[in-house]
Amino acid sequence: MAQINDHFLKLQAGYLFPEIGRRVAAYAQAHPQHKIIRMGIGDVTEPLPPAVIQAMHAAVDEMGSRESFRGYGPEQGYEFLRQAIAQHDYAARGCAISADEIFVSDGSKCDCANILDIFGDKVRVAITDPVYPVYIDTNVMAGHTGPIDATGRYADVEYLPVREENNFEVPLPRQPVDLIYLCFPNNPTGMVASRETLTAWVEYAQQTGAVILFDAAYEAYITDPSIPHSIYEIPGADKVAIEFRSFSKTAGFTGTRCAWIVVPQALEGRASNGDAVSLHRLWSRRHSTKFNGVPYIIQKGAEAVYSPEGQAQVRELIAFYLENARLLREGLSQLGWRCFGAVNAPYLWLKTPGQTTSWEFFDQLLSQAHVVGTPGSGFGPAGEGYFRLSAFNSRQNTVEAIARIQDKFRS
Ligand code: MLT
Repeated sequence: MAQINDHFLKLQAGYLFPEIGRRVAAYAQAHPQHKIIRMGIGDVTEPLPPAVIQAMHAAVDEMGSRESFRGYGPEQGYEFLRQAIAQHDYAARGCAISADEIFVSDGSKCDCANILDIFGDKVRVAITDPVYPVYIDTNVMAGHTGPIDATGRYADVEYLPVREENNFEVPLPRQPVDLIYLCFPNNPTGMVASRETLTAWVEYAQQTGAVILFDAAYEAYITDPSIPHSIYEIPGADKVAIEFRSFSKTAGFTGTRCAWIVVPQALEGRASNGDAVSLHRLWSRRHSTKFNGVPYIIQKGAEAVYSPEGQAQVRELIAFYLENARLLREGLSQLGWRCFGAVNAPYLWLKTPGQTTSWEFFDQLLSQAHVVGTPGSGFGPAGEGYFRLSAFNSRQNTVEAIARIQDKFRS
């Protein structure tokens, strides 16, 4: 028999969202009379913006003619899309990120996982708790952790507990680390990082040599003009940070798949012989070896996000989901529940009422209001006693979910 990667055996339950899906499917089968409203996984519900659809249709036609047909594209992404990203997402915000530092991919989830390929197998990682589970699970798979303990924490990981009493601020690591995962606007808490906070992180990374893996998949939801959208808005970040960005939550590409990662030319790591090595060079080698690029049709759709019509349509989409978020926060606060996030982010993070655990609350919400959310403990031990609701839904479902929850949980 072939030898397996034993690190997989350290993983606990299945991946969080399929696990929730299984429980909901079982409930739905047993109770077919109930209409279930899904506010668990943050999956968009509104259709793609018309400008995107139009560009994709035109690209399909191009693929149908010998003259304009395209086979393999550049692994790094078409120049037209990387230029549009560099101009609109970076130059426009004063960030000196060039198109050749951008790698177009099929999603931030994959990028967050794949980036580990270019780092050593002994790296020590700092991960917030609670956290988007991909960061921790992929480090377990890569062998960067020891076994899990009774509290649900893996050995050899520097957990950065994010707590309500500290306004969900992420503390600096207490011990030296190689990689620091930061996600702002945060999944799952919906909190944002100020310019001062991000500056402190960049300075910390400069002083210690750590690399920040900055996940900004939800930046489009930032409504406060003082909050940076990119880590590269902080001077010096190009020497310490890799950024993950996505069209998924911005333009409704969760099913269409298009994202990008920025690996700046100035960013370096260290080889075991002590030599400084360009991480851009390593990632370029990795990406072009293991990936054949995002389909042309999809990249043309993504490019259309940056047209004037595309920009207006995307702004409308974001405003729509943010209004859902506002309604959720307002509606559930009326129950006296402590609610966080949902202002600069599409997620509402709430304290479960009384002493209810996250999974108990999941069951109560499902069986009483037929609403699905995500148990906070699924994002890590410090998420116990909290719960996440997603604002990605139709207005009708959002309003109905709030009414049902108010009706069943009003004391
Ligand atoms: C979430 O619900 O946390 C996200 O939708 C998951 C993801 O983006 O992979």
